[in-house]
Amino acid sequence: MWNSVDFDRVDINGQPPEQEPWRQYYFIKKARGYVADLAERLGHEPTACTVTFGCQMNARDSEKLAGVLEEVGFWLTEDESADFVIYNTCTVRDNANQRVYGRLGFVNSMKKKNRLKRVALCGCMMQEPSVIEKIRKSYRFVDLIFGTHNIYMFPELFCRMFESNGMVVDIWKDSDRIVEELPVERKYSFKSGINIMFGCNNFCTYCIVPYVRGREKSRRPEEILGEIRRLAADGVVEIMLLGQNVNSYGRGLDNPMSFAQLLQEVEKVEGIERIRFMTSHPKDLSDELIQVMKESKKICRHLHLPLQSGSSRILKAMNRHYTKEQFVALAEKIKREIPDISLTTDIMVGFPGETAQDVDDTIDVIRTVGFDNAFTFIYSPRTGTPAAAMEQVPHQQVQEGFDRVLGCVQETAKKQVARLAGQTLTALAEEQNDQDPSLITGRLSNNTIVHFPGDPSLIGKLVDVRLEECHGFYYTGRMV
Ligand code: 5AD
Ligand code: SF4
Repeated sequence: MWNSVDFDRVDINGQPPEQEPWRQYYFIKKARGYVADLAERLGHEPTACTVTFGCQMNARDSEKLAGVLEEVGFWLTEDESADFVIYNTCTVRDNANQRVYGRLGFVNSMKKKNRLKRVALCGCMMQEPSVIEKIRKSYRFVDLIFGTHNIYMFPELFCRMFESNGMVVDIWKDSDRIVEELPVERKYSFKSGINIMFGCNNFCTYCIVPYVRGREKSRRPEEILGEIRRLAADGVVEIMLLGQNVNSYGRGLDNPMSFAQLLQEVEKVEGIERIRFMTSHPKDLSDELIQVMKESKKICRHLHLPLQSGSSRILKAMNRHYTKEQFVALAEKIKREIPDISLTTDIMVGFPGETAQDVDDTIDVIRTVGFDNAFTFIYSPRTGTPAAAMEQVPHQQVQEGFDRVLGCVQETAKKQVARLAGQTLTALAEEQNDQDPSLITGRLSNNTIVHFPGDPSLIGKLVDVRLEECHGFYYTGRMV
């Protein structure tokens, strides 16, 4: 395992090994030399900053980038004035792309002041050829660009950046390999994400993920469980299993295994108190999973189940493989079997061809199911996806639909969350409250947030809290 490797003792006199992860260990050692030189030229310990856009998968990838940066000798900061800044990008909606271009404009001005500063870009947005073209043309100060498939090669690409005069660009179209045992630096000491699979095979017609993250591939259960055991030994009590569609976990493995079976194995790991997972596709959610959740002591009472639309006609055009009625029946079955569960969802408004009646259907599902929370998005056409070539809905109509959906989500979520008032539930103390340091922010098994008086020594512990007052999406309470 990587944290028992003594990188100082890696031999870099010969050629780099062909095999991974040893090849990257070689480049970590080599990169240490480049960073030491940089320290000398700067006259201080070099600093590095990772900036993450998008989902939990990207957040986990950034922890891996940070792990390498720390190993090669950087002091990690959250300040973009650092000597090395890497933007881990998202391209699921256009506003994520626009934010990256905005940051680049800002970082360019800082680069003019610090000539030794280097800037890198990686993540989903870099898998789009039009983006690379634009950066080559208009953002020539960027030093390194790589994509989602070769992120494991970060140490090697980092060295290449130091050995080259111009911009280093390395993007792969796809990959079927998963490289294990590279360094990682967790953001939280007591909770962690864990990749169980990469990519997506679903091709929802609006979604760019299958194009930028490639085909679905599952990590082997031994690797996943080994990582979880090590995390538990390191004090982690809550884990989140990550994948674009966790319900299809295990299909391509040499010894196929279902997601529910994986969960049962994870449950056995001593020290892990809470298990979460993200994201579930409704079409693949099995009865086996519902039963495993129901019987589990550790799997959290929360399920994120993206609806996208409540109109069967639109769902068909989205290639989602379920109808309005099937979704509602599934949600009702889950709530019947696990009454204390919270359901949350993703909803999109403005998909091509959507009418006011389709939006009515979506609102109908929101009211019938009673989500605890919903992330609502305006449909954003993504180049290369089938929906981008369909006739788009006029902006005014989209906005009207969006406002109606948002209003309904807020109203139903408030009612749902309010049902917990007066109960005493276990919260994981996560951090000191930003606005009021006398408060600790905790998270319930069902993902609801509660703020309660307490001191930072509680962070990372599970404590019982009485939920006193509901403030819409969160509670204030008191430890009992
Ligand atoms: N436009 C708007 N929202 C999108 N999502 C995915 N693709 C798009 C798009 N093109 C939303 C979906 C998904 C969430 C992660 O992002 O709701 O569940
Ligand atoms: Fe995109 Fe659909 Fe795959 Fe989710 S399941 S990543 S929405 S294609």
